[in-house]
Amino acid sequence: MTRFYFDEQSVESLEGETVLDALIRQGHSLNYSCRKGACKTCLVQHTGGDIPSGAQRGLTSELKSDAYICACQCKPTQDLKLKSILVQNLFITAHIHEKQYLSDSVVKILVEPSEEVSHSAGQYINLRRFDGLTRSYSITNDPDSKLIELHIRRKYNGQFSDWLFNHASVGESLLIQGPWGDCCYRSEYKNDTLILIGTGTGLGPVYGIIRDALSQGHKGEIYLYHGAKNEADLYHHSKLLKLMLEHRNMTYLACVEQMGSGKSSTRVQTGDPFEVAMSFHQFDSQTLSDSPQRVFLCGEPNFVNKGQELVFLNGTPLDRIHALSYEYKDLRKVPRDGN
Ligand code: FES
Repeated sequence: MTRFYFDEQSVESLEGETVLDALIRQGHSLNYSCRKGACKTCLVQHTGGDIPSGAQRGLTSELKSDAYICACQCKPTQDLKLKSILVQNLFITAHIHEKQYLSDSVVKILVEPSEEVSHSAGQYINLRRFDGLTRSYSITNDPDSKLIELHIRRKYNGQFSDWLFNHASVGESLLIQGPWGDCCYRSEYKNDTLILIGTGTGLGPVYGIIRDALSQGHKGEIYLYHGAKNEADLYHHSKLLKLMLEHRNMTYLACVEQMGSGKSSTRVQTGDPFEVAMSFHQFDSQTLSDSPQRVFLCGEPNFVNKGQELVFLNGTPLDRIHALSYEYKDLRKVPRDGN
């Protein structure tokens, strides 16, 4: 048993528990989402004792120097002292500027922050609504706009996504935190071959990364594979076909689980997008030495994790694999059954 302090209250943690586990077990209300150190929803501030190793892994140098730690990554040490965050220190105010339905299940939200936020397509932000419920969403537009574009898929029983999809209206106030993540385009990638694979609304950040690359005059080849359940889920299909016609170095292919009974659209085939990509590209070190390539994977965790592992095991170094997975977890003390 280890005793630590949270907001000056004594908390006892059991063997192997993280600060987050111990606080939740003892009835404290603390936001959390991924429990993997990725979303930064569970940040608390360190005020005394040694900072346990790993508690600040993945945080920016600014967050580290301000003594923030991830409660889900922190194994408490005896007499560690922590306090809850001041929301105004980590979040800024924003509002919904525009809302547009892209398909039966995907809505585009444009968020306008009250101050300038430097962002890139493929990074993510946390959105916090009036009751404190917080979710992470990936950014789908390039850095030139002061508005932040998000593509939200309505999830079955998804409290936040359902609210955004059906109820939140233009002008609605929100708080935003971030952005974070390195699944985005950098000018030094200019001559690399980019292979981007996205499933579902993973297309949003992937599409933004491609537009960012093209606007920066990317010279290498760009390949995009978008996976969806069926052709109705292929939002932005015509825009991507147009982009492919306009840029000789860009190739796009949509991969669906099921084809409809009618005539299928151009550049659509059945199959898993990752397996289709594997059939066209080698991810081994020999290919890399001939033509440096970067792989971007965006979508559901199972798909992203499997893709990362396969690409890495084939010989692609980790610093050439950029991953953005959507973790949907409850942020409350008592998790819901679904999202
Ligand atoms: S970083 Fe702790 S819950 Fe996501």
